[in-house]
This record gives sequence, structure tokens and C-alpha cells, in this order.
Amino acid sequence: MKLLVTGGAGFIGSNFIHYWLKNHPDDKIVNLDKLTYAGHMESLKNLEGNPNYQFIKGDICDEEVVKKAMQGIDIIVHFAAESHVDRSVVDPLIFVKTNVLGTAVLLNAALGAKVKKFHHVSTDEVYGDLDVNDPPFNPDTPYDPRTPYSASKAGSDHLVRAYFKTYGLPITISNCANNYGFYQDPEKLIPRFITNLLDGEKVPLMGKGENIREWLHVLDHARAIELILEKGTLGETYLIQGEERGNLEVTMKILDVLGLGEDRIEYVEHRLGHDFRYANNGSELEALGFKRTYNFDESLEEVVRWYQENKDWWKPLKKGRPVLDREVQKGYGG
Ligand code: NAD
Ligand code: TYD
Repeated sequence: MKLLVTGGAGFIGSNFIHYWLKNHPDDKIVNLDKLTYAGHMESLKNLEGNPNYQFIKGDICDEEVVKKAMQGIDIIVHFAAESHVDRSVVDPLIFVKTNVLGTAVLLNAALGAKVKKFHHVSTDEVYGDLDVNDPPFNPDTPYDPRTPYSASKAGSDHLVRAYFKTYGLPITISNCANNYGFYQDPEKLIPRFITNLLDGEKVPLMGKGENIREWLHVLDHARAIELILEKGTLGETYLIQGEERGNLEVTMKILDVLGLGEDRIEYVEHRLGHDFRYANNGSELEALGFKRTYNFDESLEEVVRWYQENKDWWKPLKKGRPVLDREVQKGYGG
């Protein structure tokens, strides 16, 4: 099999490529990535010279590049996206361009190339947010995105379904909980907090840390996608559930692993449009045989250690980065 992975230099894409080549040594992977601020070639360093791996630097919005990359491809796994909510508040248009237009360009080319499968990687954030006692999202929950990020992902999901219904393109979709693991860019909650603490700084916790997310290990995510590719029904949407934790609880756990105290927390204003809670009913995926293999509390400790031991990977990424906090976001309407 030959796979085209888009956004393979990002957090989940790079972990997926490592996972796939390890478990499918006869397959070939082409990685198409624009290398935005979120694309890191260092995450794929050990694949240099691997005859089953090819990298193409290019934009998924570029029809010519996409058409070329798709030659001889059996399966597409589409990760490429602008993925950070805080960035979408201050620069929404690039989210619409990459996430909506880019996905449309890929779908169109996939149709022309007659690929066997197109798997679209999406987020549970398309369903909006939940109150504490609301039942979790399921694939029939109406879409209700509330941020430019989730709205652009929702747009891409609708296009993927439209290509199935209108043209019969063989698609599947997964909407996943928050991921954690190695090689996650230090702009997201867990790596930002770990690396701030390792740098001797405080951690900016929004509100009182009351917001709730589900957390899934990135390699469990890779396994879930593998299962959907192998056993999923074409046209179906699969929600991928994680372990539910409040942000304060996650923060306390990281502090605990590093032997630091609560005085390292700096409570800051909520981001604009801050979703309170996401939670997923993963029963369709469980029916395919999926079970998480990573336990959040144990694995979080391992992730903290990884960032401790891999400063060369993340230190250059934090240099000169603007902090997109509420003060900055206020200039955009808040
Ligand atoms: P990421 O931001 O770490 O990586 C995105 C990658 O896409 C980068 O390598 C970047 O260079 C590339 N890219 C961006 N724009 C591109 C373009 N126009 N053309 C080609 N490449 C481009 O993102 P991630 O956290 O790895 O997320 C991957 C996918 O999973 C996204 O679609 C995201 O919506 C989805 N998702 C993420 C999470 C999460 O917790 N991180 C949860 C659910 C779903
Ligand atoms: P994030 O990692 O940005 O993922 P998402 O918004 O897609 O769920 O944020 C996870 C949660 O952590 C969210 O409730 C916002 C909060 N958060 C902070 O409190 N401080 C931070 O610096 C960041 C990045 C996030």
C-alpha cells in the first residue's frame, strides 16, 4: 500500500508516520507538508534515507502540487490543518484557507486519482461545547462550532461527506478528543505548561482551570485511524474518546511530576469563545474493537520526562513566539 499523509511534520501526523512504518514495514508513505510554524522536520529525523518514506514540501491548497503528490497513492490520511484555537481567534482567514479550501483541493484530486480510501482527521470541537452533566457527543450530534478553528474544521467535514454523497468518494472521518504525547508543539496546554516550568516560568491557566477536555494518547489515535482504515464503513464518522480531566487537575499533575507547587500557576483570563467541555461517545469505534492502551496519568508522566530529555527539540520552537493571550485577542473584537 502507498499512503499519502498530509501534515505529517505536525504533532499527530509525525507520530502516525512513525507508528505506521513500524507496524506496516512493506508500505510506503509520502508526506505532504507546507512546513508552517507547526511543521517540524526534526520529528521525522530518523526516517532520513528510509526507502519507504518520501517528503514533499508543499501546500494542500496548491492543485498542481497535490495532483503530483497523489500519483500512485492508494490511501490518503489527511491531517494537515491550522490547529490552534488561540491562533484562530487572531488570524481566522488562514484557518478557512487551509482547513476548508485545502481539504476541497485534496478531495477533488483524490476523485481524479481514484484513490481507494480518503480518511479525514477531524476534531470533537465541531460539535460545540457541553455542560458538566450533558451526555457526550455522538456522530448524530448537530454541528455547533463556536471558534474559527472548529468552524473551519466543520466546513471541511461537510465537504468530505459531500464528496461521498455526490461522487461516491470512499471516505471515512474521525472526530477526536485532545491528543497528548511526544513531539507536540509547545503552544498547546500540556507541552506549553511542561516547557514553561522547565524554563523556570509560570503556567498561564485560563479562568480557574475549570474547563474540561478528554485526553487521548497520540499513539492510541494512530491505532484508531489504522482500525478505521482496516475495518471502518465507508461514509461513516467515528468519534474517538479520551479520558476526561479538568485543566486544573492536568496542571496539578504536571506540577506534581516536576516536584513543583501551586505557586507556579498564574490564573489568566479565558480566551475569547472558550469552550467549556468536550466529551465523546466512542461506541462506534469500540464496536470495531478499539480500546485505549495508554493510561493518562502514567503516560503524562512519561511525556513530562520526554520534554525534560528533549530540550533540543522544543527550545528553538519557543524562541520569539508571540503569546496569544486574552490581551492580544481583545484587539480582535473581545
Ligand atoms: P499541528 O498543528 O501540530 O500540525 C499541522 C501540520 O500541518 C504541520 O506540520 C503543518 O506544517 C501542516 N500544514 C499546515 N497547513 C498546511 C498546508 N496548507 N499545506 C500542507 N501542510 C500544512 O496539528 P496536529 O495537532 O498534529 O493536528 C493534526 C490534525 O488533527 C488536524 O487536522 C487537527 O484538526 C486534528 N486534531 C488535532 C487534535 C489535537 O489535540 N492536536 C485533536 C483532534 C483533531
Ligand atoms: P489547547 O491545548 O489549546 O486545546 P483546545 O483548546 O483545542 O482544547 O487548550 C486546552 C485547554 O487548556 C483549553 O481549555 C484552554 C486551556 N489552556 C490554558 O488554560 N492555558 C494555555 O496556555 C493554553 C494553551 C490552554
